[in-house]
Parts: sequence; structure tokens; C-alpha cells
Amino acid sequence: MKTFPFRPLTNLVMTPANLTCDGVDLADLASRHRTPLYVYSSAHIEKQIKELRRAFKGLPVTICYALKANTNFTLLNFLAKHDVAADLVSGGELWRAKNAQMNLKQSVFSGVGKTADEIALALKSQIKFFNVESKSELELINRVASKLKVTAQISLRFNPDVDAKTHPYISTGLHENKFGLDKAEILTIASTFGALKSCSLRALSVHIGSQIQTVGPFRDSFIKLRELRNLLLAQGFKIDSLDLGGGFSIPYRQNEKSFDLDKYAKTVKALFSDVKELTIEPGRFLVGNSGILLSRVLHVKKTRKKKFLIVDAGMNDLVRPALYQSYHEIITIPCASGPNHLKGSTGFDVVGPVCESSDSFTKNRKFSKATTAGDLIAILSAGAYGMSMANQYNSRFKPAEIWLESNARGKAKARLIRHRDSYRDLVTNEVLKKESRK
Ligand code: LLP
Repeated sequence: MKTFPFRPLTNLVMTPANLTCDGVDLADLASRHRTPLYVYSSAHIEKQIKELRRAFKGLPVTICYALKANTNFTLLNFLAKHDVAADLVSGGELWRAKNAQMNLKQSVFSGVGKTADEIALALKSQIKFFNVESKSELELINRVASKLKVTAQISLRFNPDVDAKTHPYISTGLHENKFGLDKAEILTIASTFGALKSCSLRALSVHIGSQIQTVGPFRDSFIKLRELRNLLLAQGFKIDSLDLGGGFSIPYRQNEKSFDLDKYAKTVKALFSDVKELTIEPGRFLVGNSGILLSRVLHVKKTRKKKFLIVDAGMNDLVRPALYQSYHEIITIPCASGPNHLKGSTGFDVVGPVCESSDSFTKNRKFSKATTAGDLIAILSAGAYGMSMANQYNSRFKPAEIWLESNARGKAKARLIRHRDSYRDLVTNEVLKKESRK
């Protein structure tokens, strides 16, 4: 049996007869639950948690999973059971985390646009701290906390003006970005902090972007963070907690290097050995490579210029390639009977049914196995920012999701953890005239 060559991307195993993930046949899952279908390997997620804990051993690190990467209830509950807290950016995420029994007292609330209602909910839930992104937000938190007669724990999010060298849409640590406060702003806020009677300044945070490939940009931002912390310590603030954000890259391509967590941890140790409490906010690292999007080939279309595989997943199901021109490995799984399997020397554009030319997963990709209508494709590394960014554009159903739960012997059981949308779901919350309700 051939272990899929794309490790550590995935837990896939290929045999001449089938493609399996944690021992579960993917073609069989697709026939039973139809497509598009997200499949997550809990074994892979567990491996990533262990990898983080191993790398940060000896450091006082709390892992706060960035829910935005994937918010499925079963996943959150699984993370809660593994002592992973939450990095939240909305009242909705807070509600999900609470219901999934994540530890809110160890969780943090980030984001540039928190509302008074969300702040009140977070205060009542006694979250660890707010990552504050503007003076106006800080004043709002102070007002809400004062009304509730509680003290809000504050971390100021520092924008260090460091280039994360990632896609511009997911770069957040430059002064041109909307995120965080620059050094001068933080020092000004600190100088009048005493007037905010319902806030306590206890931490600083930084998050410069996502899918950051090397430790360099992290180090640059941490050096600036340390300088800033020292200035505040000198002013008498007791900043013994730092939130270092998320952003660790994952491999999306075969043979791509994994993020050097050990080097990152070494850098953190060298710079922050005197800090009592550290928080990290990984999203993609925990779930990205655990997820596969299965989709069925609907048609093979040949034009004078191109060959298209038209599949039943679209940009509404996985928007990353359309939005960030991101690369995902794609494996064809032959399962249709009959002739007409196409291989050929030129590649295929793999496209969805959505009425946009950006509805494309890849261009001119060559596949080792010939393919035809009825076959399946597996789009890899789709566990992060896949389902959480899915929508119903073109009145398409959001996909179903499957959880692969491994037993002690490493053999997994597949469990449906989200139903595919139905027609009714398409009009949830729309006000329908009585007579048109059928
Ligand atoms: N903390 C904060 C404050 C964030 O804004 C983010 C991600 C994270 C943590 C988690 O970052 P991660 O560890 O997952 O890199 N939709 C894009 C990614 C957007 C990331 C937004 N913020 C994509 O599909 O690549």
C-alpha cells in the first residue's frame, strides 16, 4: 500500500483500488453523502495540537484557536477536550465557543469592529482579555464595563509595521493596514490609561498576517514588541502577558517545507523568557491540512483552446483559489465506469458551476490519473478558511461535513457533522408572503 506522497499535507493513502483517509474510503463517503463534501481527519488535527505542545514545551503558552479558520461545532468541542481555548472575533464565534464548551476564561477577543453588545457578552463570559485595536474601541469597552460594574482586561494590539511577506489580503502588520495601534498611539493611550476606571492594562498583542512562511517577520515584530513592552514596564505598567498572534504557514504543495516551529519557539524563548504568560492564536496550522473537499466531475468540456473539468464544487464552497489565487493539490479519483477517460499532455482547468470566470480551482493542471464525468476529485488542505468562508451564492447549498474519528488502533469511523443545506435553508430568514409558502 502506498502512503500518499504528499505527507505532511494529509493522511491520505492510495492503493490501486482506492484512496483512503485514516482508513476510510473517500469514494464510498462521496457516494453515501454526495458531493461537494468536506472531510476532516481528527487524527491530523490531534497531531498538529501535539506538535504545537511539543515545540512550546517549557514555555507558558496558551493555545487560542482562531475560530475563523473553521467553526464546526464538533471540531470546537474536540479542541475544547484537548484544552485548546479560543481566539474570537465576533459574538457569533463567542456563542459557538461557549456552546462547544471551550474555556472562555482562557480565550481572547480580537478584531477591529467590536460592538457594545459583543463587548458586553464577552465581559459577562469573563474572557481573558480584549485585543484592542483603537482608542475609540477602548473607550467603548470602558463604558460597557462600567455599566456592568466589572473591570475589563485589556491587551493593546500593536501594529509593528512589519511586512509578513504573504498575500496582501492576509497581511495585517503594516501601517497601511486597518489593524492594531502604532507605537506612538500605544504610548499616548498608556499615558492617560488611569482615566479609564473600568479597564486594566495587562497585555500587548501582535498579529502580522496569515500563511507566513518563515520566522524572520515574526522575529522582527517580536523585537519591536519587546522594546514597546520595556517602555511600558519602565512607566510602571505590569505587562506580564503577551499575545503573539497566529499566522504559521502550512504546506499546500507537495514537497513544500513545513513551518519551522522549533525555530519560532527558540526565538520566542530568547526574547520573552521573563514573560509570565504567552498566548498564540493559530487557526490554519491546526486544521488546514486536516481537510479535504471532495467533488464530483460533472462534465469534461473541450474548447478549441482549453480542456475544462467542470466539477460540482464551486467558489461558494471553497473561495481561496478565486480570492487569493491560492494553490491546492488536487487528486483525481477514477470511479466512473466506461471509456472516455481523458489524460492527455495538456492540463485541465478545474472549474465550478458558478457564473463567474473566477470560479476556478486551478488552471492547466495535469493529473496522473485519467478522468471523466462521474469521477471524483479531492482538493487537499481545505480544512482552514474553506467551510468557514462558504456561502450560498447562486443559491447553491453549503456542503455537508464529515468527521473522521480515529479509535485507538488508528482506524477511523466517519460521522456526518453537518447536513448539506436544503432548499428551505436558502430562504431561512427571508420574509415569505403567506400565500407563497408551500
Ligand atoms: N489572530 C488574528 C487576529 C487573525 O486575524 C487571524 C487570521 C489569526 C489569528 C489566525 O491566523 P492563521 O493562524 O490561521 O494564519 N481567509 C484567509 C486567511 C485570513 C486570516 C485572517 N486572520 C485564507 O484563506 O488564507
